[in-house]
Amino acid sequence: MLALRRSANKLFLGEPGPDPAELDELLSIAARVPDHRKLGPWRFIVFEGEARAAFGDGLADILSKRNKPASEVEEARKAFLRAPVVVAVVSSPVDDGRTPLWEQELSAGAVCYNLLLAANASGWAGVWLTEWAAFDGDAGVLLGLKDKERVAGFAYLGTSKMPSPERARADVSERTSRWKA
Ligand SMILES: Cc1cc2nc3c(=O)[nH]c(=O)nc-3n(C[C@H](O)[C@H](O)[C@H](O)COP(=O)(O)O)c2cc1C
Repeated sequence: MLALRRSANKLFLGEPGPDPAELDELLSIAARVPDHRKLGPWRFIVFEGEARAAFGDGLADILSKRNKPASEVEEARKAFLRAPVVVAVVSSPVDDGRTPLWEQELSAGAVCYNLLLAANASGWAGVWLTEWAAFDGDAGVLLGLKDKERVAGFAYLGTSKMPSPERARADVSERTSRWKA
């Protein structure tokens, strides 16, 4: 129920998660977003099974080469093991000379949220994270990002091991006005 929607706590996600066929279905649903001019300005990179540890090793190498503290390096190594499935939603804008980048990036954000909602509707828990890797050039190379591509989010999907308690919500009335002439 959307009125009670909550993200999972990233520290309490675990097995099981969607299997590859279930995930493909979720990704198809996630891609049904508003998308001006049908550009499809996003793509998915899926991390399942051992690929999660291998990607974590790559992140750890990046930080290790920067002489970051061992605790940070090891945290990065385990980052993608926090859920059975992680999906990078990549904003992949198309230069058609008329569709603003902003619109295309918003569409990628909609994909992230739609993926979470699709996962929730199928009984999975999930959370949308960015963390440092979404903004790091070397991590972008490791991901295989191309020119102008950016990580819109990493969707961590699995089973919640602890219900997320309700959290303070924005006061919508304070943020809403009715335009008058
Ligand atoms: C673009 C974006 C990036 C986010 N990145 C992080 C993050 O890196 N770490 C984090 O703890 N929460 C992050 N969040 C917040 C969580 O996705 C989530 O909204 C938050 O835990 C509150 O849960 P709720 O969705 O139940 O309100 C991000 C949210 C958005 C929209």
